[in-house]
Amino acid sequence: MNTGHVELARAQQDRWEAAYARHPQLHGSEPSEAARWAAEAFGAAGIDDVLELGAGHGRDALYLAAQGFSVHATDFSETALDQLRQHAQRAGLDDRVTAALHDVRDPLPPADATVNAVFANLLLNMAFSPAELRTLVGEVQRVLRPGGLFVYAVWSADDSCAGSWEAVDDGLSEHDGFVGRFFDRGLVDELSTGWQPVDITPYAEPPRRLWRVAVAKR
Ligand SMILES: C[S@@+](CC[C@H](N)C(=O)[O-])C[C@H]1O[C@@H](n2cnc3c(N)ncnc32)[C@H](O)[C@@H]1O
Repeated sequence: MNTGHVELARAQQDRWEAAYARHPQLHGSEPSEAARWAAEAFGAAGIDDVLELGAGHGRDALYLAAQGFSVHATDFSETALDQLRQHAQRAGLDDRVTAALHDVRDPLPPADATVNAVFANLLLNMAFSPAELRTLVGEVQRVLRPGGLFVYAVWSADDSCAGSWEAVDDGLSEHDGFVGRFFDRGLVDELSTGWQPVDITPYAEPPRRLWRVAVAKR
């Protein structure tokens, strides 16, 4: 694991494990708005396989698989991934969805330039230091083929919670034991440096205000 907020990362992993164990289907069964958008974008680009990071219990992985994509879903919660595998089996989608434990602070497993699309809904706004975020985005760029797409959504600094959560280190905020980051446009633009911007859009998925970011590897 990279150095950074190692203790914080462990505590967050425990927190997510406990949350998924207590509340299976924590994020509901409907896909995120970002996943619906990504399915259109990936389809239009002729992409049929997706690496999903921070997939949770798999509402978006299952949606993408139902749309015909092959999905490799990763998360650092084994409990969430077990739920994902069970849902995929029940839905008859297990031939198109694989799931593997992975902490995105570690290098992404794929070899250089072997992946067509990476999707991450509400992962980058988790408890990462700025250096960890830059490293993660660099890893996504490394594994994508030239022209490959990276679509992600993150909490916006315009969200009403941005002012009310308790500020902790490095621009992170904490509420109820969960730590995350609210992104302003400057941070979105900084992380897009070196990429071909495709779509950067603020939107609402009540009660959250979010950024949806789509960039292509040059
Ligand atoms: C807000 S949830 C979003 C889950 C899913 N993308 C969705 O929209 O339903 C954030 C997810 O990121 C995962 N996560 C947080 N930090 C992670 C890390 N360092 N590596 C891998 N997964 C992580 C959590 O376990 C959790 O499933």
